[in-house]
Amino acid sequence: LALFKTVLRSEVAKRVTSTRLVVAREFQVRDAKVAPLDVAAGDPVPLPLVGLNVAFTNAGIGKLRPNEADLGDPSFVAGAAASAKALGDPIDGSGKPLWIDPYDGTAIDGVFLITAGTQPEAAAAANDLITALQDSVNLLRSEMGAVRTGAQRGHEHFGFLDGVSQPAIAGLGTPFEGQRTIDAGHFVFGYGVTSAPRFEWMRNGSFMVIRRLKQLVPEFNSLLASEGARLGMDAELLGARMMGRWQSGAQTVDAPLQDDAELGADPFKNNDFDFSDDLFQRGCPYGAHIRKVNPRADLADQVDGVDPHRIIRQGIPFGIDVTDAEAASGKTSEDRGLLFVCYQSSITNQFEFLQETWANSTGFVFGKVRPGQNGAAVSVGFDPIIGQSGEGGARFTDEALPNFPTGDQRSQFAQPSQTVVPQGGVYLFVPSISALICELAD
Ligand code: HEM
Repeated sequence: LALFKTVLRSEVAKRVTSTRLVVAREFQVRDAKVAPLDVAAGDPVPLPLVGLNVAFTNAGIGKLRPNEADLGDPSFVAGAAASAKALGDPIDGSGKPLWIDPYDGTAIDGVFLITAGTQPEAAAAANDLITALQDSVNLLRSEMGAVRTGAQRGHEHFGFLDGVSQPAIAGLGTPFEGQRTIDAGHFVFGYGVTSAPRFEWMRNGSFMVIRRLKQLVPEFNSLLASEGARLGMDAELLGARMMGRWQSGAQTVDAPLQDDAELGADPFKNNDFDFSDDLFQRGCPYGAHIRKVNPRADLADQVDGVDPHRIIRQGIPFGIDVTDAEAASGKTSEDRGLLFVCYQSSITNQFEFLQETWANSTGFVFGKVRPGQNGAAVSVGFDPIIGQSGEGGARFTDEALPNFPTGDQRSQFAQPSQTVVPQGGVYLFVPSISALICELAD
């Protein structure tokens, strides 16, 4: 521990990327996107920018600050594995999650997060860091992200453009049309009206959630094809209804029946909607992924009902694209999915709330009624992308058919088994650079 504290102060802290540098790099990256393309892949030539951050689990904080171990977030204190059952993840008879090692236990003290333009650069930065750490840590596992290339650049493995909707943060930049501005205290300690840190050194820090989510892509595509055939609808439309966006990123409220690639690609328009004009699921099912995890004006009081549950997402896909053999067999044989990462100031009220109270709950969005049926409540079903049904729970989503324009047809999307399989999770606290140098290395 003493050696770790020494290298934390002398070697790690100086390598950690500051927010100021990240903001400056965003401009560089933006400019590089208009730079010459890598002719072979049709992708921008990546900039040689390496980033590093370090974060600790409750066990790690307990070692570094033994007298101040309870950071005030019950989910963080209990750790991710303890929440597996509540998250709806598969568990064994003793309640242990069916996750891969070491996520399934309590051995993880912390995580180093490395970013780079290419995988070899990331691997070189990792090696350099490992040397600098001088055997003060025991490396339990490493994960390598892989952004998709060519036409799938920026898309996750099911094929949908990701990273479209993020909250704007009060005091930082100008929001895009339709982007809600959220109190910075919901993401970083010490700002706005929310989340006074329990300890001074938590100021400028944030909670980070990592989830290793395996995606069964051929199975997902087969499911869309078979359910689409059963319902008499196009598989691509069914996929868009389950996500709430087309693969291009266009939302289905304003593009209910066919994709609108221009809308999807336009950051000034692709978030400028709030479901208030979409009564009776004509454009977007209540259970669609984006409507479940950000119901926008579906809740009358967005300030208290939605905003405090928002998260900032910064995940990355992992694994290779579907091979021809997998596509032909309809079965996944390669390891691929999403390394989901999100930031918040309360894991209980943000990440866990979204997964448990909204995505997994067959009632949410609560209080929605059918047209012309005397106020009969809609049984919405679960989020067909990330919803976890626990043991024997229902796996359906209401109103797969667009129901456009009449609103009087009933249909259900049935999911015999999940196509996103959670394989792990870690709950972490990301400290500020000054806390790393002063309090945590003390
Ligand atoms: C493999 C799993 C997942 C896939 C394939 C996936 C895919 C997507 C896609 C394609 C979008 C729309 C594009 C965008 O707005 O960025 C989206 C949005 C979003 N996802 Fe996921 N996601 C996954 C897991 C999760 C998890 C675990 C959570 C949180 C519990 C989550 C929360 C969100 C949120 C908050 C949004 C933005 C909604 C909005 O503001 O409109 N996602 N996701």
